[in-house]
Amino acid sequence: MPPAPPFPILISNAQIRRRTHELARQIAAAHQDAPPVLVAVMEGARTFALLLARSLPCGLPVHAISASSYGSGTQSSGVVKVVETGDIAVRGRSVLLVEDIVDTGRTVTAMRGHFLSKGAAGFSVVTLLDKPARRVVPVELRYTGFTIPDTFVVGFGMDLDGRWRELPDVVLVDAAPAPRPAVH
Ligand code: IMP
Repeated sequence: MPPAPPFPILISNAQIRRRTHELARQIAAAHQDAPPVLVAVMEGARTFALLLARSLPCGLPVHAISASSYGSGTQSSGVVKVVETGDIAVRGRSVLLVEDIVDTGRTVTAMRGHFLSKGAAGFSVVTLLDKPARRVVPVELRYTGFTIPDTFVVGFGMDLDGRWRELPDVVLVDAAPAPRPAVH
């Protein structure tokens, strides 16, 4: 298998870890009375959600939910379908949705409607990345790791057509790749 191309790093794994620990501290302080229900939007948010859960002092389980907002490639189809496999018990509890990246805002909006209609007492969002330049629907993001420009990224759980999730850093795929050093 060919090695990953030398994608430029936007946010390093060390930066992600530091920021996630800070977010975990804020979340723990805000939810001292009752822990939230942690729900990660799969697959992209899995890596971030697990790191976040490990960083929280209270050992919360990570529930999974799926949304399809992308057909293929880097353009959104505009239609978000929420898929909950197994019933996540949220009635009367506060949901903390864990996202990898908020782009148009459609996924977060669909998730909010989904959980509030199931009787959740509250809904807030923690996202590793926010791409506000692409917003179509206004959304409230309670906790944001990093705000990034309008560019497509992969790595740390995020993919492009199923590739590059395993990369440890958040890297740029639509920038021109750095030239490989010539070997003589
Ligand atoms: P939204 O509904 O447009 O906010 O899209 C959110 C979802 O789109 C994220 O959870 C990702 O799965 C995907 N997405 C948006 N931008 C990117 C990106 O730059 N890289 C990888 N996935 C992205």
